[in-house]
Amino acid sequence: MLVPSPGMALARRLIVALALLVAVAAAQASSQLTIYNDSKKYGYYGCYNETTEIPGSDHTRALGGGINEVKRGEMTVPMCLAFCSNGDTQYRYAGLEWARECWCSQSIAGISKKLDDNQCNFPCEGDNTTACGASLKLSVYRLSSPAARITGPAVLACVGAALAVLL
Ligand SMILES: *[C@@H]1O[C@H](CO)[C@@H](O)[C@H](O)[C@H]1NC(C)=O
Ligand SMILES: *[C@@H]1O[C@H](CO)[C@@H](O)[C@H](O)[C@H]1NC(C)=O
Ligand SMILES: *[C@@H]1O[C@H](CO)[C@@H](O)[C@H](O)[C@H]1NC(C)=O
Repeated sequence: MLVPSPGMALARRLIVALALLVAVAAAQASSQLTIYNDSKKYGYYGCYNETTEIPGSDHTRALGGGINEVKRGEMTVPMCLAFCSNGDTQYRYAGLEWARECWCSQSIAGISKKLDDNQCNFPCEGDNTTACGASLKLSVYRLSSPAARITGPAVLACVGAALAVLL
């Protein structure tokens, strides 16, 4: 008969504890969406309410008057930002809604209210780790200001100057 040694019992307990930790981590990863914020052109502006259902809005969109596309199973935030900026017109606002819709507009409706970021809790259909709005809610991005766009080179210049002093 094989009697488990105390060492084996301990090892088994460790394995169970490890498996639990992995399961908890996986559960957290699936419930925690990150906000994509890696674009040089656009910065995250917030989670905004769609306006079509608001009384008196006349069914106008929060990001209306521009262009839009739906990419079932494929939509990601960078895909939408490219769509809103790579055509003839560079749109000031880009918004993702319902996991797969991309809306581009030069303005955001005044009646669209900013919501808590966690209200935009639908994973993008093309990247389930990042947020793509929700039902009647948009993850909105705005073109960075010209001032913001020169921060990259400006920071590099500072680093360069600091290195020059050090060397
Ligand atoms: C996104 O990045 C911009 C500038 O890099 C920063 O101001 C902003 O707070 C960031 N937003 C989030 C939600 O991380
Ligand atoms: C967001 O829009 C919905 C209609 O789609 C409306 O009922 C709700 O009051 C709005 N929320 C805010 C905070 O404006
Ligand atoms: C997220 O996507 C990955 C790869 O596309 C897939 O393996 C995983 O099952 C998805 N997770 C959820 C919670 O849908």
